[in-house]
Amino acid sequence: MIIYAAKDYEEVSKKAATVMGALIVSKPNAVLGLATGSTPVGMYRYLVEWCKNGDLDFSQISSVNLDEYRGLSGDNDQSYRYFMNTNLFDHVNIDKAKTNVPNGLAEDADQACAEYNAIIRSMGGVDMQLLGIGGNGHIGFNEPSDVFEKETHVVDLAESTIQANARFFESMDDVPKQAFTMGIKNIMEAKKILLVATGAAKADALYKALYGPITPQVPASILQLHSDVVVVADEEALSVIREKGLL
Ligand code: F6R
Repeated sequence: MIIYAAKDYEEVSKKAATVMGALIVSKPNAVLGLATGSTPVGMYRYLVEWCKNGDLDFSQISSVNLDEYRGLSGDNDQSYRYFMNTNLFDHVNIDKAKTNVPNGLAEDADQACAEYNAIIRSMGGVDMQLLGIGGNGHIGFNEPSDVFEKETHVVDLAESTIQANARFFESMDDVPKQAFTMGIKNIMEAKKILLVATGAAKADALYKALYGPITPQVPASILQLHSDVVVVADEEALSVIREKGLL
């Protein structure tokens, strides 16, 4: 595992974009596993800038996203499809037909999950999976639990996640309570993992994920078993790890 310590959000964004950009340069037809949330917004901004100035070419890239809220259409401005379009896909030369986000409106959830697993397999697997981390240690929407869920599934969002998401919705009733998410096996099968974390609210989760026991109660702790993980985190997110003298 490589840990890059960055001083702040901006430096995390640039370093993480550099790591993903290097893959895009070295493997122009790479399969990117992508994430949403506040943390990667700055990183996507750099990727867009480098594509616009001709340093990156997305024309052969394909992508698969970690998750999507159940019940939201891709046109809803809180959906993860909408997030991906507005933060990245609309601004780079990617073929949108080669971008995949779970369909939040799928009526047959089991079938939708099986199809999503099949899509990932048909792409030949993910070359680099980008991950944020929840304050409770979740990755994708794999919430703390008694077991590691393996493949794409529907999850009941943890109360803390619903509360954290509430800021984006008009009322609590509008906040989705379920999501489709890749499972832990899907994530662990990616050839390379890029984990980004910023802010003090992630410090405890990041410490537990990287140095605590491997347990489904801290889903990100499974990453200790992956052979190729790059962590890019700012000093606030690394503060507990520093306090304990581990870095
Ligand atoms: C998003 C996702 C989530 C987020 C995590 C951190 O696709 O799967 O696991 O990465 O909740 O979110 P932010 O970056 O908003 O703190």
